[in-house]
Amino acid sequence: MRKVFIEPSLLSANFANLERDISLCEKGGADMLHLDIMDGCFVPNITIGPVVVESIRKITTLPLVCHLMINQPERYIENFVSAGADYISIHCEGQIHINRTLEAIRGFGKKSGLALNPGTPLEFAYENAQFCDFILLMSVNPGFGGQSFIPTFFRRSESLKNFLVKNGLEQVLIEVDGGVKVDNVQEVVRAGADMVVSGSGLFNGNLIENLMLMRKEIEKVLK
Ligand code: DX5
Ligand code: ZN
Repeated sequence: MRKVFIEPSLLSANFANLERDISLCEKGGADMLHLDIMDGCFVPNITIGPVVVESIRKITTLPLVCHLMINQPERYIENFVSAGADYISIHCEGQIHINRTLEAIRGFGKKSGLALNPGTPLEFAYENAQFCDFILLMSVNPGFGGQSFIPTFFRRSESLKNFLVKNGLEQVLIEVDGGVKVDNVQEVVRAGADMVVSGSGLFNGNLIENLMLMRKEIEKVLK
């Protein structure tokens, strides 16, 4: 049976009270936590690094998904693994030796992901899918929370799903990130998303309630 994972993005959490917000994520039934790592070069924003990931690792057993929006991510894979990341995605636009880095992530026994910006050709995903446990199709240009969903995601996700099925790679999960909320999650899941990231869509308002509403919407599609 198909399972869809809900991943709150802590970028929209209260960084002065992460422990409380993470515990609310757990109570609301989040499947994993999405951590946005930004370096001020690959994207204009700067967020957190391995030190914060390590602190988060100590207060939750939820799988930690580190989305590396950094140039030359190969330099930091080991740091994020040691900090406690379970899933690590790298952007193909910030990486020259894509499959080498994906294999390095797997070499540490972690789930490897390749992330594509909305304007990046899907060929990057096709060429590297065999080295991936998940492929992240961005539905906003990365850098900030609270941006509007870019609808080209739908056809991109459908094409990628078809490719994966045709090539015996159904086990590779599709992750969506950016502008996903309770009111568009059904369409997103119908288009093939298996890992749903949501920041402002969950944290604006009542987090637990939003998580439960999102789960209900997803279940309607899976029925
Ligand atoms: C954007 C980040 C996202 C962001 C999503 O660059 O990768 O994870 O937190 O936030 P929302 O869901 O508010 O678009
Ligand atoms: Zn992200």
